Amino acid sequence: MSDQLTAVIDLDLPGATISRHVYGHFAEHLGRCIYGGFWVGEDSPIPNVRGIRSDVVDALRAISIPNLRWPGGCFADDYHWRDGIGPRDQRPRMVNSHWGDVVEDNSFGTHEFMDLCELLGAEPYVNGNVGSGTVREMSEWVEYLTRGDDSPMSSLRRANGRDEPWKVPFFGIGNEPWGCGGNMSAEHYTDLARQYATYIRNHGGHTVDKIAAGANADDYAWTEALMKVSAKLGCGCDPRGFFQHVSMHYYTMSGDWADKGAATSFTTDEWYLTMKRARRIEELVRGHANVMDAYDPDARIGLVVDEWGTWWNVEEGTNPGFLYQQNTLRDALVASTHFDTFHRYARRISMANIAQTVNVLQAMILTDPDSGALVLTPTYHVFEMNTGHHDAGSLDVRFKGDLPTRTVDGSALATLSVSASTKDGTALVSLSNMDAETPTTLVLDLRGREVTDVAGRVLTAGTLHAHNTPDQPDAVAPTAFEGARPHARGLEVEVPAHSYVTLTLTLA
Ligand code: AHR
Repeated sequence: MSDQLTAVIDLDLPGATISRHVYGHFAEHLGRCIYGGFWVGEDSPIPNVRGIRSDVVDALRAISIPNLRWPGGCFADDYHWRDGIGPRDQRPRMVNSHWGDVVEDNSFGTHEFMDLCELLGAEPYVNGNVGSGTVREMSEWVEYLTRGDDSPMSSLRRANGRDEPWKVPFFGIGNEPWGCGGNMSAEHYTDLARQYATYIRNHGGHTVDKIAAGANADDYAWTEALMKVSAKLGCGCDPRGFFQHVSMHYYTMSGDWADKGAATSFTTDEWYLTMKRARRIEELVRGHANVMDAYDPDARIGLVVDEWGTWWNVEEGTNPGFLYQQNTLRDALVASTHFDTFHRYARRISMANIAQTVNVLQAMILTDPDSGALVLTPTYHVFEMNTGHHDAGSLDVRFKGDLPTRTVDGSALATLSVSASTKDGTALVSLSNMDAETPTTLVLDLRGREVTDVAGRVLTAGTLHAHNTPDQPDAVAPTAFEGARPHARGLEVEVPAHSYVTLTLTLA
């Protein structure tokens, strides 16, 4: 009994608040994310509000989508916002060179995006153009969006049909400047970002948080270059300093960039390799947080993981530039274990945005290009099961006994991941069993508060490759979980192989 794996949770000792914004999303002008995903146009037979697909909005409202990043991604540094305002039939066209080399007609622009955010009840995260834009262009976009009087840009907005300024709490200064956003050095980008930040103004009573475009995976030197500036140098432009957040990007794949692995047909070895690569997010967040701690010990500046998720080879027969991929139970566990890390680092992580919301990479929603049918992915269900973590106090989970492990790629992978939080007289415990074949039994040693009720849900399937399609939309969907039994210390839980379990505890 004494050597039984035990997770100790002090229910009365919540730590930092898990920002709901770590459950954020990302919509790029890429493949069928905007066009055919969110946007079907006003004349579409698919039910829509002012051109925005209603069932997509309903599905995302059901998971309390907190924010939406737009218009990219790599696209952001090619995008000129003035092309996307005014009468739609008069908007200039452009080439979307990053994504399929297709012609973009700009029918989805600033007003359509802000309308989408209002329908979703999500806060906009607008990503500006540093790579091919100008300081003036970015400054005027912020004025257009957020200024209330009769300035040149607010008057232009009114002429285009929107009287009231919008609220834009988050604004990104370029994207991946080390790559598609301009191939810059950290030092060059840091100087540019300071310059751009100076002209992103807080108009009237409106305050915008500026997000500096951050590192690729483990490029800690990039984070350090930005932190030196944001934490140490005063900025006449904003009493809070140049940037309020610094971002990073990390994608999970079982192969390499040339051959990333298939979304639905993979071996058990590839399953484990994926889990191992996904768990690397913990090491990366720890590494960036350590650098940030050295310059900003009070955690005033947030780490924003504004692109994360699985990146597989595109589905056969689809445009390679459109990044359309299916989504299995494996993707669900990649998501659930990323969230464990985001919960653990709640003090530092201010936002995260999975890439991407509809029809691209690790999507929540897939839509059929012919029938228009909408499918919710296994990843969607993880977001839905985790809404109780939004703005909840993070709870430490400490283990007694050894976590189950597998040797993967020459080193140990712990196959169980657990995180927990508390709010409103409840606690939510998340348990991911990454073992493909073996259930894991553990005791939850629940201290500090009395637990009066337990409600469990589980996301699993008969095979690792299970996924949802228009014909089988619920092949992977949450069901009631009966594997938690009372125990002298709290609960004994048997977490099935390849499953994600949540336990909602009612606290006295
Ligand atoms: O999400 C797809 C692309 O991945 C984004 O446009 C870019 O920022 C990243 O490389």
